[in-house]
Amino acid sequence: MNEDFIHCWNEILVPKWNRFRHLLSGNGGIHSELAYPHFGFRVGDKVLDIGCGYGETCLDIGRMVTDAGVVLGLDCTEAFLADANRERDQAGLRQVRYELGDAQTHALPSEYFDVVFSRFGVMFFESVVMALRNAHRALKPGGTVCLIVWRTIKDNPCWGGAKEIALKYLPPPGDQAKTCGPGPFSMADEETVRAMLKVAGFTQVELFRRIDAEICVGTSVEEAIDYQILVGPSGEIVREAGPEGQKQLPLIRAELGALMQAPRRADGSVWMPSSTWAIMARKS
Ligand SMILES: C[S@@+](CC[C@H](N)C(=O)[O-])C[C@H]1O[C@@H](n2cnc3c(N)ncnc32)[C@H](O)[C@@H]1O
Repeated sequence: MNEDFIHCWNEILVPKWNRFRHLLSGNGGIHSELAYPHFGFRVGDKVLDIGCGYGETCLDIGRMVTDAGVVLGLDCTEAFLADANRERDQAGLRQVRYELGDAQTHALPSEYFDVVFSRFGVMFFESVVMALRNAHRALKPGGTVCLIVWRTIKDNPCWGGAKEIALKYLPPPGDQAKTCGPGPFSMADEETVRAMLKVAGFTQVELFRRIDAEICVGTSVEEAIDYQILVGPSGEIVREAGPEGQKQLPLIRAELGALMQAPRRADGSVWMPSSTWAIMARKS
Protein backbone atom coordinates (compact mmCIF):
# COMPACT_ATOMS: atom_id res chain seq x y z
CA MET A 1 0.00 0.00 0.00
CA ASN A 2 2.80 2.43 0.87
CA GLU A 3 4.13 1.88 -2.65
CA ASP A 4 0.75 3.02 -3.99
CA PHE A 5 0.96 6.21 -1.92
CA ILE A 6 4.52 6.86 -3.12
CA HIS A 7 3.42 6.21 -6.71
CA CYS A 8 0.55 8.67 -6.23
CA TRP A 9 2.98 11.40 -5.10
CA ASN A 10 5.38 10.78 -7.97
CA GLU A 11 2.86 10.30 -10.78
CA ILE A 12 -0.27 12.27 -9.87
CA LEU A 13 0.62 14.98 -7.42
CA VAL A 14 3.92 16.38 -8.72
CA PRO A 15 2.43 18.44 -11.60
CA LYS A 16 -0.29 19.83 -9.33
CA TRP A 17 2.21 20.70 -6.60
CA ASN A 18 4.49 22.36 -9.13
CA ARG A 19 1.61 24.49 -10.38
CA PHE A 20 0.50 25.56 -6.92
CA ARG A 21 3.84 25.51 -5.12
CA HIS A 22 3.65 29.26 -4.39
CA LEU A 23 0.46 28.59 -2.39
CA LEU A 24 1.33 25.22 -0.81
CA SER A 25 4.86 26.14 0.19
CA GLY A 26 3.95 29.75 0.96
CA ASN A 27 1.26 28.61 3.37
CA GLY A 28 3.52 25.97 4.88
CA GLY A 29 6.01 28.78 5.41
CA ILE A 30 3.45 30.83 7.35
CA HIS A 31 2.95 27.94 9.78
CA SER A 32 6.61 26.93 10.07
CA GLU A 33 7.72 30.52 10.80
CA LEU A 34 5.23 30.54 13.69
CA ALA A 35 6.36 27.11 14.94
CA TYR A 36 10.18 27.45 14.67
CA PRO A 37 10.59 29.58 17.83
CA HIS A 38 8.93 26.79 19.86
CA PHE A 39 11.27 24.15 18.45
CA GLY A 40 14.45 26.08 19.28
CA PHE A 41 16.96 24.81 16.67
CA ARG A 42 20.53 25.44 17.86
CA VAL A 43 23.73 26.23 16.00
CA GLY A 44 25.45 22.91 15.30
CA ASP A 45 22.31 20.73 15.52
CA LYS A 46 22.06 17.68 13.26
CA VAL A 47 18.51 17.66 11.89
CA LEU A 48 16.53 15.11 9.85
CA ASP A 49 13.54 16.53 7.90
CA ILE A 50 11.15 13.71 6.93
CA GLY A 51 8.81 14.20 3.95
CA CYS A 52 10.76 17.38 3.15
CA GLY A 53 9.20 17.96 -0.30
CA TYR A 54 10.99 20.79 -2.13
CA GLY A 55 13.19 21.27 0.93
CA GLU A 56 12.25 24.81 1.87
CA THR A 57 12.26 23.90 5.56
CA CYS A 58 15.67 22.23 5.14
CA LEU A 59 17.04 25.55 3.88
CA ASP A 60 15.40 27.46 6.77
CA ILE A 61 16.80 25.02 9.31
CA GLY A 62 20.16 24.89 7.54
CA ARG A 63 20.45 28.65 8.13
CA MET A 64 19.51 28.22 11.83
CA VAL A 65 21.99 25.41 12.53
CA THR A 66 24.65 27.13 10.32
CA ASP A 67 27.46 25.23 8.63
CA ALA A 68 28.41 23.87 12.05
CA GLY A 69 25.30 21.66 11.76
CA VAL A 70 23.82 19.15 9.33
CA VAL A 71 20.38 18.89 7.73
CA LEU A 72 19.29 15.73 5.92
CA GLY A 73 16.04 16.02 3.95
CA LEU A 74 14.34 12.70 3.20
CA ASP A 75 11.50 12.34 0.70
CA CYS A 76 10.04 9.65 -1.56
CA THR A 77 9.37 11.95 -4.54
CA GLU A 78 12.23 12.28 -7.01
CA ALA A 79 10.99 15.41 -8.74
CA PHE A 80 10.74 17.35 -5.46
CA LEU A 81 14.28 16.39 -4.53
CA ALA A 82 15.61 17.42 -7.96
CA ASP A 83 14.30 20.95 -7.27
CA ALA A 84 15.51 20.77 -3.67
CA ASN A 85 19.07 19.91 -4.74
CA ARG A 86 19.15 22.73 -7.31
CA GLU A 87 17.82 25.28 -4.82
CA ARG A 88 20.24 24.14 -2.11
CA ASP A 89 23.12 24.71 -4.58
CA GLN A 90 21.75 28.16 -5.44
CA ALA A 91 21.51 28.99 -1.73
CA GLY A 92 25.05 27.69 -1.16
CA LEU A 93 24.04 25.77 1.97
CA ARG A 94 26.50 22.88 1.98
CA GLN A 95 25.24 21.68 5.37
CA VAL A 96 21.96 20.59 3.67
CA ARG A 97 21.69 17.36 1.69
CA TYR A 98 18.89 15.13 0.48
CA GLU A 99 18.17 11.42 0.18
CA LEU A 100 15.39 9.68 -1.73
CA GLY A 101 13.60 7.10 0.38
CA ASP A 102 10.64 5.94 2.41
CA ALA A 103 10.71 7.52 5.87
CA GLN A 104 9.31 4.32 7.37
CA THR A 105 12.15 2.06 6.29
CA HIS A 106 15.03 4.25 5.08
CA ALA A 107 18.33 3.24 6.69
CA LEU A 108 19.50 6.05 8.99
CA PRO A 109 22.52 6.31 11.27
CA SER A 110 21.50 5.36 14.81
CA GLU A 111 21.58 7.95 17.62
CA TYR A 112 22.98 10.59 15.25
CA PHE A 113 20.41 13.40 14.98
CA ASP A 114 19.53 16.06 17.60
CA VAL A 115 16.16 16.80 15.99
CA VAL A 116 13.75 15.02 13.65
CA PHE A 117 11.46 17.58 12.02
CA SER A 118 8.51 17.34 9.67
CA ARG A 119 6.17 19.98 8.29
CA PHE A 120 3.02 18.39 6.84
CA GLY A 121 4.97 15.21 5.98
CA VAL A 122 4.12 12.55 8.55
CA MET A 123 0.34 12.63 7.98
CA PHE A 124 0.92 11.13 4.53
CA PHE A 125 3.00 8.13 5.59
CA GLU A 126 1.11 4.83 5.54
CA SER A 127 2.37 4.07 9.05
CA VAL A 128 3.29 7.17 11.00
CA VAL A 129 4.29 4.97 13.92
CA MET A 130 6.79 3.05 11.76
CA ALA A 131 8.29 6.33 10.55
CA LEU A 132 8.39 7.76 14.08
CA ARG A 133 10.09 4.58 15.32
CA ASN A 134 12.67 4.87 12.56
CA ALA A 135 13.15 8.51 13.58
CA HIS A 136 13.38 7.56 17.27
CA ARG A 137 16.24 5.13 16.51
CA ALA A 138 18.06 7.84 14.57
CA LEU A 139 17.78 10.37 17.43
CA LYS A 140 20.40 10.81 20.13
CA PRO A 141 19.09 10.31 23.66
CA GLY A 142 17.63 13.67 24.69
CA GLY A 143 16.87 14.51 21.04
CA THR A 144 13.48 15.83 19.94
CA VAL A 145 10.90 15.17 17.26
CA CYS A 146 9.22 18.39 16.08
CA LEU A 147 6.10 18.13 13.95
CA ILE A 148 3.72 20.53 12.23
CA VAL A 149 0.40 18.87 11.31
CA TRP A 150 -3.03 20.13 10.31
CA ARG A 151 -5.76 20.29 12.97
CA THR A 152 -9.27 19.09 12.05
CA ILE A 153 -10.90 20.00 8.75
CA LYS A 154 -13.52 21.87 10.80
CA ASP A 155 -10.74 24.12 12.08
CA ASN A 156 -9.47 24.56 8.52
CA PRO A 157 -12.10 26.34 6.43
CA CYS A 158 -9.32 26.82 3.85
CA TRP A 159 -9.91 23.15 2.95
CA GLY A 160 -13.27 22.32 4.52
CA GLY A 161 -15.46 24.83 2.67
CA ALA A 162 -14.48 23.48 -0.76
CA LYS A 163 -14.87 19.87 0.38
CA GLU A 164 -18.45 20.53 1.48
CA ILE A 165 -19.25 22.02 -1.92
CA ALA A 166 -17.69 19.09 -3.82
CA LEU A 167 -19.66 16.62 -1.69
CA LYS A 168 -22.93 18.34 -2.61
CA TYR A 169 -22.41 17.17 -6.19
CA LEU A 170 -20.19 14.08 -5.97
CA PRO A 171 -19.73 10.99 -3.78
CA PRO A 172 -16.82 10.73 -1.32
CA PRO A 173 -13.78 8.83 -2.68
CA GLY A 174 -14.27 5.06 -2.30
CA ASP A 175 -12.03 2.51 -0.55
CA GLN A 176 -10.09 1.93 -3.78
CA ALA A 177 -9.39 5.62 -4.36
CA LYS A 178 -5.88 6.52 -5.53
CA THR A 179 -4.69 8.41 -2.51
CA CYS A 180 -1.43 9.91 -1.32
CA GLY A 181 -1.71 8.46 2.21
CA PRO A 182 -3.90 8.63 5.29
CA GLY A 183 -4.41 12.33 4.56
CA PRO A 184 -3.87 15.84 5.85
CA PHE A 185 -6.16 15.54 8.89
CA SER A 186 -5.02 12.11 10.06
CA MET A 187 -3.04 13.62 12.96
CA ALA A 188 -5.56 16.20 14.09
CA ASP A 189 -6.64 14.35 17.24
CA GLU A 190 -4.35 15.15 20.18
CA GLU A 191 -5.05 11.95 22.09
CA THR A 192 -4.32 9.78 19.04
CA VAL A 193 -1.08 11.59 18.29
CA ARG A 194 0.08 11.31 21.91
CA ALA A 195 -0.61 7.55 21.69
CA MET A 196 1.31 7.29 18.37
CA LEU A 197 4.32 9.07 19.87
CA LYS A 198 4.24 6.82 22.92
CA VAL A 199 4.06 3.64 20.85
CA ALA A 200 7.00 4.92 18.77
CA GLY A 201 9.06 5.30 21.97
CA PHE A 202 8.65 8.99 22.85
CA THR A 203 7.77 9.20 26.53
CA GLN A 204 7.90 12.97 27.08
CA VAL A 205 5.55 15.16 25.00
CA GLU A 206 6.73 18.70 25.69
CA LEU A 207 4.61 20.80 23.35
CA PHE A 208 1.14 20.59 21.82
CA ARG A 209 0.43 24.13 20.64
CA ARG A 210 -2.36 25.29 18.40
CA ILE A 211 -1.27 27.70 15.68
CA ASP A 212 -3.93 29.66 13.78
CA ALA A 213 -3.19 31.74 10.69
CA GLU A 214 -4.91 33.07 7.59
CA ILE A 215 -3.42 31.45 4.49
CA CYS A 216 -3.65 32.31 0.80
CA VAL A 217 -5.78 29.92 -1.24
CA GLY A 218 -5.33 31.85 -4.49
CA THR A 219 -3.74 35.01 -5.83
CA SER A 220 -7.13 35.54 -7.57
CA VAL A 221 -10.60 34.02 -7.28
CA GLU A 222 -9.98 32.07 -10.51
CA GLU A 223 -6.78 30.58 -9.11
CA ALA A 224 -8.49 29.79 -5.79
CA ILE A 225 -11.16 27.83 -7.69
CA ASP A 226 -8.56 25.91 -9.74
CA TYR A 227 -6.60 25.19 -6.56
CA GLN A 228 -9.56 23.60 -4.80
CA ILE A 229 -10.55 21.64 -7.93
CA LEU A 230 -7.07 20.17 -8.32
CA VAL A 231 -5.56 19.70 -4.84
CA GLY A 232 -6.69 18.99 -1.27
CA PRO A 233 -9.79 17.07 -0.20
CA SER A 234 -12.08 18.64 -2.83
CA GLY A 235 -9.47 17.92 -5.54
CA GLU A 236 -9.42 14.26 -4.52
CA ILE A 237 -13.24 14.04 -4.68
CA VAL A 238 -13.33 15.58 -8.18
CA ARG A 239 -10.44 13.42 -9.44
CA GLU A 240 -11.87 10.18 -8.07
CA ALA A 241 -15.34 10.89 -9.50
CA GLY A 242 -13.85 10.63 -13.04
CA PRO A 243 -16.19 11.69 -15.88
CA GLU A 244 -19.00 12.50 -13.40
CA GLY A 245 -16.61 14.89 -11.66
CA GLN A 246 -15.95 16.67 -14.96
CA LYS A 247 -19.69 16.84 -15.67
CA GLN A 248 -20.40 18.52 -12.35
CA LEU A 249 -17.47 20.94 -12.61
CA PRO A 250 -19.41 23.99 -13.84
CA LEU A 251 -21.76 23.82 -10.81
CA ILE A 252 -18.89 23.19 -8.38
CA ARG A 253 -16.82 26.01 -9.89
CA ALA A 254 -19.75 28.43 -9.59
CA GLU A 255 -20.25 27.63 -5.90
CA LEU A 256 -16.54 27.82 -5.20
CA GLY A 257 -16.48 31.22 -6.90
CA ALA A 258 -19.20 32.44 -4.53
CA LEU A 259 -17.34 31.01 -1.51
CA MET A 260 -14.15 32.86 -2.49
CA GLN A 261 -15.76 36.33 -2.81
CA ALA A 262 -16.01 37.17 0.90
CA PRO A 263 -12.40 36.38 1.93
CA ARG A 264 -11.00 38.31 -1.08
CA ARG A 265 -8.47 41.04 -0.22
CA ALA A 266 -7.98 44.39 -1.95
CA ASP A 267 -5.31 42.94 -4.29
CA GLY A 268 -7.70 40.17 -5.39
CA SER A 269 -6.00 37.35 -3.45
CA VAL A 270 -8.14 35.03 -1.32
CA TRP A 271 -7.23 34.30 2.31
CA MET A 272 -8.95 31.84 4.63
CA PRO A 273 -8.45 30.64 8.23
CA SER A 274 -6.23 27.63 8.88
CA SER A 275 -5.05 25.81 11.99
CA THR A 276 -2.15 23.48 12.81
CA TRP A 277 -0.52 21.77 15.79
CA ALA A 278 3.13 22.36 16.63
CA ILE A 279 4.19 19.23 18.50
CA MET A 280 7.46 18.42 20.24
CA ALA A 281 8.39 15.18 22.02
CA ARG A 282 11.73 14.10 23.49
CA LYS A 283 13.60 10.79 23.43
CA SER A 284 14.64 9.80 26.95
C1 LIG B 1 2.31 17.55 2.10
S1 LIG B 1 3.90 17.25 1.50
C2 LIG B 1 4.89 18.24 2.59
C3 LIG B 1 6.19 18.63 2.00
C4 LIG B 1 7.05 19.60 2.83
N1 LIG B 1 7.41 19.04 4.11
C5 LIG B 1 6.37 20.93 3.01
O1 LIG B 1 5.98 21.27 4.12
O2 LIG B 1 6.21 21.65 1.98
C6 LIG B 1 4.22 15.60 2.03
C7 LIG B 1 5.56 15.10 1.54
O3 LIG B 1 5.77 13.80 2.11
C8 LIG B 1 6.40 13.00 1.13
N2 LIG B 1 6.13 11.60 1.49
C9 LIG B 1 4.94 10.94 1.48
N3 LIG B 1 5.09 9.68 1.91
C10 LIG B 1 6.41 9.52 2.21
C11 LIG B 1 7.19 8.44 2.71
N4 LIG B 1 6.65 7.25 3.01
N5 LIG B 1 8.52 8.64 2.91
C12 LIG B 1 9.09 9.84 2.62
N6 LIG B 1 8.40 10.90 2.13
C13 LIG B 1 7.07 10.75 1.95
C14 LIG B 1 5.81 13.45 -0.19
O4 LIG B 1 6.63 13.14 -1.29
C15 LIG B 1 5.68 14.96 0.05
O5 LIG B 1 6.84 15.63 -0.37
